[in-house]
Amino acid sequence: MSKSPLSRRQFINLGAGAIAATTVAKNILQPRMLSASPRPVAPSDTIRFASIGTGIRGCEHLEASLNVPGIQCVAVCDLYDSRHIAAQEAVKNPSVPASRDYRSILDRKDVDSVLIATMDHNHRRIFEDACAAGKDVYCEKPMSHLVEDGFAMVEAAQKNKRMVAIGSQRVSSVLYAKAKEIYDSGKLGEVFSINAYWDRNSPSGAWVYPIPPDASEKTIDWNSFLGNAPKVAFDPVRFFRWRCYKDYGEGLGGDLFVHLISGIQFIASIKEPAQRAISTGGLFHFKDGREFPDLIETMYEYPNTRVTLRCNLNNDGGEFIGFYGTKGTMIIKDATLTYKPQDTRPLPEGYSIFGWPKALRDQYLQKWHEDHPEPAALKSSVDAEGESYANPPGYSDTVDHQANFYNAVRTRKPVAENEVFGNNAAIGCHLANFSYFNKSVAVWDASQKKIVKA
Ligand SMILES: NC(=O)c1ccc[n+]([C@@H]2O[C@H](COP(=O)([O-])OP(=O)(O)OC[C@H]3O[C@@H](n4cnc5c(N)ncnc54)[C@H](O)[C@@H]3O)[C@@H](O)[C@H]2O)c1
Repeated sequence: MSKSPLSRRQFINLGAGAIAATTVAKNILQPRMLSASPRPVAPSDTIRFASIGTGIRGCEHLEASLNVPGIQCVAVCDLYDSRHIAAQEAVKNPSVPASRDYRSILDRKDVDSVLIATMDHNHRRIFEDACAAGKDVYCEKPMSHLVEDGFAMVEAAQKNKRMVAIGSQRVSSVLYAKAKEIYDSGKLGEVFSINAYWDRNSPSGAWVYPIPPDASEKTIDWNSFLGNAPKVAFDPVRFFRWRCYKDYGEGLGGDLFVHLISGIQFIASIKEPAQRAISTGGLFHFKDGREFPDLIETMYEYPNTRVTLRCNLNNDGGEFIGFYGTKGTMIIKDATLTYKPQDTRPLPEGYSIFGWPKALRDQYLQKWHEDHPEPAALKSSVDAEGESYANPPGYSDTVDHQANFYNAVRTRKPVAENEVFGNNAAIGCHLANFSYFNKSVAVWDASQKKIVKA
């Protein structure tokens, strides 16, 4: 027999009245930019930015920037020449200056901020140089390639008093704002369990990106790409599929876990890294020489919550975060959000008294009802209704995340995801990889700022 609470309630219900069904109201969220300036921006308030790294994400950003009020792209920079053209096309300005050398951009006094969308291992150096040059910085996620990089970047931002945003754009979305509102309202009760996944099974989703036919040592500045990474001979596979290699990326941890962790940190107001993590997984399908698993599952311990994450490149399940509270459940699935209250009204025990004779059962139920006169068990309806929300069609949280950053640059008010937030989220992905590769529990040692074995 089923032991689900509903079944127990249904059993008791036979003699005690009807449970009112909860209804779910559906809402399309407003497409307004939460963080954009509500007023037109004066030309004198225009923020002049440059994009460093104009590959896939850099070009996405440049296109999105056209919808953010009060900003202007004044330079683009990339190590691969064809990406200069791609960037000029994305920002719809064929004459915006393009170069391979980001330092020439940092020397310009008319550049207020830079957007760093390079491979992960190059974030730190450009970020530190940009802060030292007095630029505000939007840096893509994951903020750090190594744990020590993250702390050096926090120090660089704070020492130079820079506004910094890290690029997990979900935290600026209208959907996550609504999720946070529901979480903060207490409707979920206490949330001890959070479970999230991001599964995608296309070769492109698994980073098997095509190599452009003009890629060569002439068109790509290979040494600058390597940066502080070990010196190896020119290899376009490493350049275009860098996520597969430990020298430049962090696999699924840095690519997707960090989005899920950022969303969870934001909604649940978590302000520190997980204390411990344990991972499992494996490389099952994409055996193309990559150094990371194509399936990883990690359990994290936070002080008052347990979090389980999964990324699977062998299934197309999409993006999901579930918050399981003592009073209700909240699910974000792709672009929709649902909140479902639980029936927490008092009820007499149903299942275990199956084994009692009828007289004892009746006696127990009569006493229980005498002890619980108000509200009469199962006679009142559940006091909350379900809710459902969706992003408006064509909605871009990247536009909102940029708008949040540029608004903060203008006003010097806090961003949605600053360097400390971004560092904590990145530590989460490093914990997952540490545990996976060391086959051990990964422990966050906050006093030493490092990950150690249990
Ligand atoms: N927030 C998101 O949803 C999201 C999505 C995709 C990628 N990203 C992040 O964006 C970053 C870039 O990813 P991508 O997919 O665009 O990679 P990509 O390989 O398409 O582009 C990276 C570009 O950075 C350039 N680059 C590297 N070092 C440089 C340097 N020193 N100076 C100038 N240019 C340099 C390379 O030439 C390359 O063209 C990564 O950190 C990634 O994790 C975030």
